[in-house]
This record gives sequence, structure tokens and C-alpha cells, in this order.
Amino acid sequence: MDRHQGWIWLAFRLLAFIDLGFGYFIIEGPQNLTVLVGSVARFNCTVSEGWPVLIWLFDGNPILTVLNNGTPIITQKKYNQEGFKNGSEFTSELKIFDVQLNDSGEIKCSIQNEVNNNYAFLSVQVNGSLTIKDSNLTVRKNQTTEIVCEALGWAPAPHIFWMVNNISLDNSMYIANQSQGSNGLYNEESILTLTPMTSGIVTCLAVIDALSKPQYAAVTLIVYEPPSTSDNDGRIRTIILAVVLSVVGFLLLILLILLIICCCKRRKESNYRKEMRKVSEKKATDRNLETMRHSGQANYAYSPEETEYSEQVAGVPSFFPDNSSLYGPKQDLEVTPTSQVSYNGHHDGVLPSRTTAYPIILRKIRNVTHV
Ligand SMILES: *[C@@H]1O[C@H](CO)[C@@H](O)[C@H](O)[C@H]1NC(C)=O
Ligand SMILES: *[C@@H]1O[C@H](CO)[C@@H](O)[C@H](O)[C@H]1NC(C)=O
Ligand SMILES: *[C@@H]1O[C@H](CO)[C@@H](O)[C@H](O)[C@H]1NC(C)=O
Ligand SMILES: *[C@@H]1O[C@H](CO)[C@@H](O)[C@H](O)[C@H]1NC(C)=O
Ligand SMILES: *[C@@H]1O[C@H](CO)[C@@H](O)[C@H](O)[C@H]1NC(C)=O
Ligand SMILES: *[C@@H]1O[C@H](CO)[C@@H](O)[C@H](O)[C@H]1NC(C)=O
Ligand SMILES: *[C@@H]1O[C@H](CO)[C@@H](O)[C@H](O)[C@H]1NC(C)=O
Repeated sequence: MDRHQGWIWLAFRLLAFIDLGFGYFIIEGPQNLTVLVGSVARFNCTVSEGWPVLIWLFDGNPILTVLNNGTPIITQKKYNQEGFKNGSEFTSELKIFDVQLNDSGEIKCSIQNEVNNNYAFLSVQVNGSLTIKDSNLTVRKNQTTEIVCEALGWAPAPHIFWMVNNISLDNSMYIANQSQGSNGLYNEESILTLTPMTSGIVTCLAVIDALSKPQYAAVTLIVYEPPSTSDNDGRIRTIILAVVLSVVGFLLLILLILLIICCCKRRKESNYRKEMRKVSEKKATDRNLETMRHSGQANYAYSPEETEYSEQVAGVPSFFPDNSSLYGPKQDLEVTPTSQVSYNGHHDGVLPSRTTAYPIILRKIRNVTHV
């Protein structure tokens, strides 16, 4: 407290004590004020006629005295006042220059006799910086992205909110973290979680009372359409269809080939069966012939051919369930004088089914005769 102001203060307190009940009073006291650092803070105090001295106090300490002729006693360059006379009323407008954070506090107007509402609060705030942090602002449609807004060096910590295309977003879409730096200023980070469907302007806004308009930072969010998923699905479906179709086609081809092979085999088999029947028939005939020959003039040059036939037969024995019976001992038993009798009967053309076998038999006979 200034020494001079202190003495005046003391003197007027005494005067007030003496002049108690003189009838002057404060018509209107100062109003709460919130200003930015560095600005000029102004407070008005309007008093009725008859006041001897007006004293401004900050947090209870006199900072400026105004004499009843309207002249101030300036002791600090930081404080001054302007007087306005309006009839019998006098208004002292206090000016506090280049306000700092430590200028925040109680401002009181005193004319020594007042006990009513004659004080207000000065709140000094700091307009910090606001930036949307570097982030990828090119996002896929319907892709969730985070946008971070950073507020540095504020007092107090600002209220941060977000807008997209000038429409405020619900506060459930963002969260804020704040911290106080060593300089007493606040830093804050607000994280917006957004799932954009269209491109737009994303704005981060910071509000403190001292700012008549919020400070803001804006970015353009570019939302791009990914290659349509339905198209993708279609492509995948086509690929799957193609694969399935080709596999099915391949399987069908294999099946067809197998069928053909089977058919051929069966036909061959039946041919072979026929052949074998012929062979067996011929064999029987040959045997009969042989036995005939054996009984007559023996000719063994024929026998190698017979072994050739038996070899052929042995090559595919399973095709003949009655194979054993063909070459079994029964067969041998058939080569008896009785079979000779039966052959003779056959030879007479009694069995027409054997007619096909005759050319082979005849050929054989011819061979035999050749040798
Ligand atoms: C002035 O500010 C103080 C402290 O901030 C508060 O308690 C009071 O209610 C305010 N008065 C008015 C009239 O706004
Ligand atoms: C104080 O009062 C004067 C005169 O009525 C007016 O011009 C001025 O704007 C007022 N200042 C404040 C801070 O209200
Ligand atoms: C208030 O802070 C300023 C600088 O911010 C400093 O110069 C001044 O001395 C401080 N005043 C008091 C009363 O502490
Ligand atoms: C607050 O700070 C921002 C960024 O520095 C500036 O653009 C703006 O004008 C300031 N506002 C006031 C009221 O000083
Ligand atoms: C941003 O994201 C898009 C798609 O996610 C990508 O193509 C692009 O390269 C990214 N840019 C940066 C700077 O990371
Ligand atoms: C957006 O994505 C979500 C899941 O990530 C999905 O359920 C929703 O249908 C999508 N909306 C549109 C319009 O694509
Ligand atoms: C957003 O609102 C501000 C003021 O309300 C206006 O100046 C601006 O043109 C608007 N922007 C859009 C994109 O609507």
C-alpha cells in the first residue's frame, strides 16, 4: 500500500467516524468485470452529493483517492480515474491499465459510510493459442477418426467444443484433458471422435468469459468413398463362381472320362468273355481233335499253340469264374472216349451256337495240316 494513500485512508476513516450519518451514499457500486490480460479494466462508482472523498481499494488496499472536486491523487501509474458529473451525482470511473493476472481480485469503492453492495470482482484472463493438431484429415467414408485440438497457455482453462459445418456436436463425442503449466496458465487437449459420412469443415472452438467470440481453429475433413464394397463382393462372388464352375467342369470331365473308360473296359470285357468262350469252345474242339489225332496218328506240332492259348487264358483268370472248371480235372475227364463221341455229335452240326467257332477250328485244322 502506498504510504500517501494509507494516510489519506486513515484520515478519512476518522472523518467518516466523525461525520457518520451525514446522508451521502453510493448510488451504484462497481460491477464484476472480466478482461483479457493487457487490457484496461474500468469500474464505475456513482455517489450522491455531499461526499467528502472517494477511495478505490484493491483487495482492501487503497489504490486511488478522488477528492470531492473530482481530482484524483495518483500514486501509481497503473491506476487513474475519470470523473463525470451528472447533476448532483458524481461518477468516478476507475481505470486499471495493462491488467495482469495478479490484478484479479476485489475492487471496492468507498466513501467511508457505506456498508451496502459497493464492491465487485476483477477477473483477468489469458487468450491462449488454439490449434488442430496435425492429423490425417483424409478419411474413408464411415471410418472412425480422431481429431485433436490443442489449447495452450490459457487462463482459465477454456471450454472447448466442436462444430461440423457450423453445427455443434454433442459433447459425448469429445473428451478434454487439462493441465496447469508452471506459469500458472492452462493447457488443454480435446479429442473428437468422428465417423464422417461426408466431407466438411471441422471446427474446434475455445471459450472463456473475456472473449466476446470464441477463438476457433478449422480444418477441412476430406471423406472419400472406398471402392464400393458391394462391387467388391460382386467381384469376389464372380471369382468364387468361376472357380466352382471350373472345378465342377473338371470333375464332370473326369467323370466322363472314367465312364468312357469303364464302358470300353466292359465292352472289351464282354468281347473278351466272348473271345474266351470261343477259345474255350475251340479248346474243347481242339482237344477233341487232338484226342482224335492221338487216337489216330500223333502230331505234337500242334501242342505249342495250345499252350499259347492257355497262357492267354491265365492272363485274365478272374474274368472267368468258371475258369477252374474249364481247365480243371473235370475237363480232363471230358477228354475221354465219351467226349469223342459227343464231339462227333457236334461235328454233325447238332448245336447251332457253335457255328461261329467253326472258322477258327477250321483254321486250326489248316495250320495243323500245314505243319
Ligand atoms: C461477482 O463475482 C463474484 C466472484 O466471482 C461472484 O461471487 C458474484 O456473484 C458476482 N456478482 C455478480 C453481480 O455477478
Ligand atoms: C461509467 O459511466 C460513464 C458515464 O455514465 C460511462 O460513459 C462509462 O461507459 C461507464 N463505464 C463503465 C465501465 O460502465
Ligand atoms: C503482478 O505481476 C506483474 C507481472 O505479471 C508484476 O510486474 C507485478 O509486480 C505483480 N504485482 C504484484 C502486486 O504482485
Ligand atoms: C485471441 O488470440 C487469437 C490467437 O492468438 C487471436 O486471433 C484473437 O484475435 C485473440 N482474441 C482477442 C480478443 O484478443
Ligand atoms: C491419410 O489416410 C489415407 C487413407 O487412410 C491415406 O491414403 C493417406 O496416405 C494418409 N495420409 C497421411 C499423411 O497419413
Ligand atoms: C458404418 O459402419 C458400421 C460398422 O463399422 C456399419 O454397421 C454401418 O452399417 C456403416 N454404415 C454405412 C452407412 O455404411
Ligand atoms: C458458419 O457460421 C458463421 C457465423 O455464424 C458464418 O459466418 C459462416 O458463413 C458459416 N459457415 C457455414 C459454412 O455455414
